[in-house]
Amino acid sequence: MCGIVGYAGSESAAKVVYDGLKKLEYRGYDSAGIAVMNFGRIEVIKSVGRVEKLEKYAHILEGNVAIGHTRWATHGKPSTANAHPHSAGGITIVHNGIIENYAELKQKLVSEGEIFLSETDSEVIVRLIAKFYEGNLLNAVIKCAELLKGSYALLAICEGKNEIVAARYRSPVIIGLGDGCNFCASDEPALAGKCKHVCVLEDGDFAVLTADEVKICDSLGKEIKRQVWLNTAEPAALSLGGYPHFMIKELWEAPSTVKNTVSAFRQREEQIKDALSGVDKIILTGCGTAYHAALVGKRYFEELAGVEATVEYAGELRYNTPIISGHIVLIAVTQSGETADTVEAARLFKNLGAKVFAVTNSLHSEITRIADVVVPVAAGSEICVAATKSYSGQVSALYLLALQLSEKEVAKELLTELYGAPDLISQTLQDIDVYALAEMCARASGVYFLGRGIDYAVALEGSLKLKEISYLAGGGYPASELKHGTLALIDNKTLSAFIITDPDLAAKSANAVEQTISRGGMVAVITSLPEVQSQFAHRAEVVKLPECGKYLSPFASAAALQYLAYRTAVTLNRDPDKPRNLAKSVTVE
Ligand code: AGP
Repeated sequence: MCGIVGYAGSESAAKVVYDGLKKLEYRGYDSAGIAVMNFGRIEVIKSVGRVEKLEKYAHILEGNVAIGHTRWATHGKPSTANAHPHSAGGITIVHNGIIENYAELKQKLVSEGEIFLSETDSEVIVRLIAKFYEGNLLNAVIKCAELLKGSYALLAICEGKNEIVAARYRSPVIIGLGDGCNFCASDEPALAGKCKHVCVLEDGDFAVLTADEVKICDSLGKEIKRQVWLNTAEPAALSLGGYPHFMIKELWEAPSTVKNTVSAFRQREEQIKDALSGVDKIILTGCGTAYHAALVGKRYFEELAGVEATVEYAGELRYNTPIISGHIVLIAVTQSGETADTVEAARLFKNLGAKVFAVTNSLHSEITRIADVVVPVAAGSEICVAATKSYSGQVSALYLLALQLSEKEVAKELLTELYGAPDLISQTLQDIDVYALAEMCARASGVYFLGRGIDYAVALEGSLKLKEISYLAGGGYPASELKHGTLALIDNKTLSAFIITDPDLAAKSANAVEQTISRGGMVAVITSLPEVQSQFAHRAEVVKLPECGKYLSPFASAAALQYLAYRTAVTLNRDPDKPRNLAKSVTVE
């Protein structure tokens, strides 16, 4: 949620920051801006819209120290005035996060004569730093931070000084350690190919970066050391590689994600096994697509391992009063590892003494610092705002976790089945024909996804994906619930898409299909079962999935629905990679 980048070195700083912002655009794309230190003076460029609007200016601006920002608006509409950087009294800042007490701070500053130029919460930060500045930027940032409530990843520069001061609290900042240059950014992709090593700031850390040095310190200015890691961000993951969009590229990377997730799991198997021993209750949590993967995970834990499992939205769970008894484990599922609700839910459980597992694609993220056990999802960078391959990775990681708790012989068989998941996804994507269904979706006044059991979990994912990138109204429901209300919405303009892969529940779902057809609604049936295909041939739009076992079916059906959402977005001329109003990592409430 908002991307920030800083650079100090010998190259054109505006160009380096511009390149970094382009790679972080998935974090927000309402407006963008760059501030460059040019012979001791700060020059600022800003624009509403995407980062590319800054390109021509980035090539003109001179100077070797710069900071930049790509915004996902929280306070104040997308406009040039609200775009970052913000400046006051020789100080310029970029900020990712939310200052929750900004109104109070602003009121005080206004009463002292300050005139605000934007509607943002962030402007209080720059005005406070300017107020506290007495020749030492770090000290002024520390004093300002003492007054802030909320979250911040903050970069500040000051006229006449060739340094960047960074501060972090509940929003990520990663430092790139280069040769004669140093970087800071919200996320690793901005540093891909730029430097060999990285380190991550922790809550309450400050850092001073110049071309030659990075000093990290606490709020007393006392120097601290943070672990240095190899920079593993790959530049190749950030290019389209011949695909028209990241979404379709990443969907095709789902098979390798599953393979790599299985290998990564293997390397930590012993630690995971020990940590799971004696577990009698599992709570799974996450947001959006990660929550949908968790719903599939619940089935795995209960049906494959016989361990009770519940699933809660992280945004709800973080404000619950959980009762921690017996051997309870919280499994937090998150691609980014930075989603505020998921991170806070995990922190709550950790503080209450529960064991916390993180199923994540980001091994240096905040969730990994809270979790007792990290279960890696090996998806690589996922750039498209709509999650695809990370879902397949999360489902495979949860499947592997459930196998750790199931009987040895059963686990062996089920593991062999999982090895078939990559081919199942590839076959689904190769053979599936959703062109006609995408046209139907594009014309429909509402699109409903329905299923039972594991198919219901996938229906929710199909519905979210379609809403997210096509902007079509609709929802995901258990097929059993249709007759309890939703059926009233059915007419010849609404489309109901039924997912049917579980042979035990197929007849029940088929009843719901019949009831919808009888009421004149448009109907699609997405199924791996030949008997269901023949039952509805010529009476509904039938989309065939490869035949597969029940527990592997989400790999096929979710890939099919993600692809359907993609085709529909393309049919409607929407940008599937950067849907309106959204950002990839939701690091604020
Ligand atoms: C899915 O397509 C979304 N963009 C969104 O729902 C996402 O899955 C959610 O915000 C959770 O993100 P996380 O996995 O990084 O925690």
